[in-house]
Amino acid sequence: MRKTFIAGNWKMNMTASEGRAFAAELTAGNLDKGVKILIAPPFTTLQAVAEVVKDTNILLGAQNMSDSESGAHTGEISPAMLKEIGVDAVIIGHSERRIIYKEDDSFINRKVKLALKHGFEVIFCVGETLEERESGNVENVVRSQLVGGLQDISTRELQSVTIAYEPVWAIGTGKTASPEDADDVHAFIRTEIEKLYDIKAADAVIIQYGGSVKAENVKALMSKPNIDGALVGGASLKFETFSPIVNYNK
Ligand code: PGA
Repeated sequence: MRKTFIAGNWKMNMTASEGRAFAAELTAGNLDKGVKILIAPPFTTLQAVAEVVKDTNILLGAQNMSDSESGAHTGEISPAMLKEIGVDAVIIGHSERRIIYKEDDSFINRKVKLALKHGFEVIFCVGETLEERESGNVENVVRSQLVGGLQDISTRELQSVTIAYEPVWAIGTGKTASPEDADDVHAFIRTEIEKLYDIKAADAVIIQYGGSVKAENVKALMSKPNIDGALVGGASLKFETFSPIVNYNK
């Protein structure tokens, strides 16, 4: 049985004091204990949020991490820095990193490997642009992102990886993939994981959907057999919009 996993990606929102207050609201709120929950604040807000979510069932995520251990990498954040704060998981390969900051599959793969080496869970993001969808390339694009990003990741390491399928055209646009279209890609991802690993790994891997998930569409998405959770951006920034997503089953 795959456990539902709902993650909030705060992106470049929430100062440390805002994040601390919001995290306190979340920990005090009545969130479904049967759901795995993670929040991913920006780097400068991590410490404040870590103090609030420590010893709660809310996990702490970072939105990115360097591909290097330490040294001359101006502006980057190392795995050890995140570890010391108490970060549990790192989001890697988000489409905003891929597209705006030109992160490619091999760079993303180095980050995935480094994060796993340091004992982090990884939320590894894949997904096609509108152009790629319209030209019939969804499967080719997603396959090459999976093969490239997961290169040299062992079956055992894969247990710490959640895959987030986020069609780029659905992120922050209010357009959601239909539950059927999303589930088709999730099923495709599971088949690719079976090819790259084995059936056991494919059955076990958690695949989140991301792209304009909100209270109104979460139930229909989550009712699909291959959709195991959600990576939520905009709707993760307020208790009133995030809690109904976490509590979709209540
Ligand atoms: P959105 O973002 O929910 O605002 O579409 C999702 C994401 O980018 O992770």
